[in-house]
Amino acid sequence: MCGIIGFSGDRNCVPILLDGLGTLEYRGYDSAGVAVQTECGIAVYKTKGRLDALRELLKTHPEAQGTCGVGHTRWATHGEPSDINSHPHEAENLTLVHNGIIENYAELKKELETLGYTFVSETDTEVAAKWIGHVYKQIGDPVKTLFAAAKDLRGSFAFGVMYHDRPHTLYAIRRDSPLIVAKTDTAGFIASDIPAILSHTRSYYRPGEDVVAVLCGSDVHFYEESGAEKNLVQETVNWDVEAAQKCGYPHFMLKEIHEEPDALRRTVMPHLKDGVPFFGVPMLDGDGLKDVGTIHIVACGTAMHAGLLGRAWIERFARIRVDVDIASEFRYRNPVLAPNDLVVLISQSGETADTLAALRLAKSRGVHTLAIVNVVGSSVAREADDVIYTWAGPEIAVASTKAYIVQCATLRLFALRLAFVHGKMSEEDVRTRCSALAQEMPAEISETLQLAPQLNEIARRFKEHEHIFYIGRGVDSHLCTEGSLKLKEISYIHCEAYAAGELKHGTISLVEEGTPVVVVITEDSLAEKTISGIREVRARGAYVVCFCASAVADRYSIPADEIVRIPAPAEDAPLPLMTALQMLAYYTSFEMGLDVDRPRNLAKSVTVE
Ligand code: F6R
Repeated sequence: MCGIIGFSGDRNCVPILLDGLGTLEYRGYDSAGVAVQTECGIAVYKTKGRLDALRELLKTHPEAQGTCGVGHTRWATHGEPSDINSHPHEAENLTLVHNGIIENYAELKKELETLGYTFVSETDTEVAAKWIGHVYKQIGDPVKTLFAAAKDLRGSFAFGVMYHDRPHTLYAIRRDSPLIVAKTDTAGFIASDIPAILSHTRSYYRPGEDVVAVLCGSDVHFYEESGAEKNLVQETVNWDVEAAQKCGYPHFMLKEIHEEPDALRRTVMPHLKDGVPFFGVPMLDGDGLKDVGTIHIVACGTAMHAGLLGRAWIERFARIRVDVDIASEFRYRNPVLAPNDLVVLISQSGETADTLAALRLAKSRGVHTLAIVNVVGSSVAREADDVIYTWAGPEIAVASTKAYIVQCATLRLFALRLAFVHGKMSEEDVRTRCSALAQEMPAEISETLQLAPQLNEIARRFKEHEHIFYIGRGVDSHLCTEGSLKLKEISYIHCEAYAAGELKHGTISLVEEGTPVVVVITEDSLAEKTISGIREVRARGAYVVCFCASAVADRYSIPADEIVRIPAPAEDAPLPLMTALQMLAYYTSFEMGLDVDRPRNLAKSVTVE
């Protein structure tokens, strides 16, 4: 999704804006631009394509210098990626950048057109710029204008605004789209995310939706609609620049996969007390879970896939009913929610628009909400009744890896807590499983990372194919769903995941000579049935690669072309096995020479519906 950076300070802002945009590249974008307050007024430089194209453009404009400016990376929603649709956008009295979607832009555009306004781009943002500019003409006060104009806008937004008659000053307002504000002794910053300000400061403000931020150099103020100044408390980043850099790895994705053992320990250890789950949340640690009704897990993409694993564990360990919903479906299907139900939202970023909307829906129905979130202070974290943080650290690669592992680990702890509270598992059994999660599994993931050469070899074979299938049963079918998403999103190879028993109900007709089929087996009790599935697809010519817990490989004769042995007992194997599937996806994309960290059409943080 779009990235915003703004600077007001004592130096030329252009290199600062470009560096800041560089740190936001992970969000996904297709064009970039900056606006600078130069000696001759505000000048805009923008272009379709990567940041390098913008850098080249700026080289031909030595006059692009000034101490106040905004920068933007655009992920196209309204209108194709093009120079003209890129941000910043201008009205006659202001220039702005925007992240989000203005849903009623067509109505506003019509109204502005009847007033004589004309438009050069196809974007909703240009309409917003001209609308705010129109309001400014009437009100004349920059802060009041933003509050008033925001009331007319439907949808989500974070705006960074420079009014042409307010030199050296940045204004910002947000609704449902992320935006932070920071200051040093000599400058003020606005940004979509923390990496953009990390080389300047580790402290930042997270303005809510009820304030306008005004920055003039290091003079930073927040105002409420009444005009009163609002004091916000600064938050401190608890990870450093290093954590947001590649540290010698060729890609963030590979680095983040290698961080999984640490991320797992960092997430599990603080959530254990005397060896059993403890969340520091009264409802979870007390008796609050005793009479819980249905648990609704709601999330998007990879986070939703973690929810599928969570459901399997909660139902298996605690025998409590769990529904898993895609957030964009949940919010529109008028879900049946009972007062004692619990809605669990899972999100790495905590800013995913559909997940946030699902959370608000659940709250509006009076149902208790629990968020499992990686970004401290993010919108989902702030709005949920309770939060369990995962401690994966910053995830920069678009394809989520370590965040999935810690989401699953948190759900497993939650399932064990439920099992204990409901008398379905002894304290000793809970303790043994918690210890495996904290001690053995990180080590097993580290050992799995040693399988890199074998996985790279398989990737070389896979890259030649157009279709790949993933099959498994039970928990393994959920690992297949996430493993195939990982491969398709970064290699662009068409992959499908199927419950192995479902194959012969139609899909097997797609298997032909040489079609790669990935088979996953961690479920010992279902191994024989999955092995029958291997025989079925091999009889149709499939090339079978079986990822299985080493104990399963020892016990059964597996008729696969290639076996990837996961060094973990069957019960612990799902998480390390996912590490291996993530590496397979990584190496396939790498071997195909693709942009592993920034796959086409995708954004890291999906802050629009
Ligand atoms: C895929 C991926 C996405 C996200 C999804 C939800 O690798 O990263 O499917 O999982 O967009 O994002 P969060 O977890 O930030 O809500």
